[in-house]
Amino acid sequence: MNTNPHVCPAAISGILDNRVRRWLQDPRKVLVPYVGEGMEVLEVGCGPGFFTGELARLVGEKGKVVAVDLQEEMLRKVREKIRGSGLEGRIVLHRCEEDRLGVSGSFDLVFLFYVVHEVADKRGLFRQLQGLLKDGGVVYLAEPPFEVSGKAFEKTLRIAGEAGLVVVGKPKRFPDKVAVLKKGQKK
Ligand SMILES: C[S@@+](CC[C@H](N)C(=O)[O-])C[C@H]1O[C@@H](n2cnc3c(N)ncnc32)[C@H](O)[C@@H]1O
Repeated sequence: MNTNPHVCPAAISGILDNRVRRWLQDPRKVLVPYVGEGMEVLEVGCGPGFFTGELARLVGEKGKVVAVDLQEEMLRKVREKIRGSGLEGRIVLHRCEEDRLGVSGSFDLVFLFYVVHEVADKRGLFRQLQGLLKDGGVVYLAEPPFEVSGKAFEKTLRIAGEAGLVVVGKPKRFPDKVAVLKKGQKK
């Protein structure tokens, strides 16, 4: 069981996957601009899989989604959700450690939705992600409006920059704080 107070507990995962959120943050609308057929996607902090199924649909039969979370209970929820959906073959579920993703490969998209503010060692996370991103690959980072101030978000982007991930866009998606990053130079 997770004991880190900054991490969203699996016991309240229902607030992350419900009809109201689906209406406000339709996963397909969020993902379509960034995900295409055949892509390899790394989703860090997948939680109960609000985005995972749609990611798998969009990458198609030839694509792959590696969905990673700290909490086994979250991964179990995703497993239950995708059982019998025909998407199982495209999704690899992986339990990571707090400071070590333990993933190999190289990815076209790294998807970070409402997770980075829960990570104590952001620098370490971004360094790992820089190494896992394909040249030309993209990181999509969204942080929640209330937990993360504008100042805290800018600090996160600075840390990402020092780890070699530079901001190439800040798409507007009310009410979230969003940035798109690509590989740059490590400092
Ligand atoms: C607020 S939830 C968001 C879940 C999902 N991305 C969504 O938008 O519905 C954050 C998730 O990140 C996970 N998490 C927190 N710290 C993590 C870390 N260091 N590595 C991987 N996952 C982490 C938590 O277990 C939780 O499932």
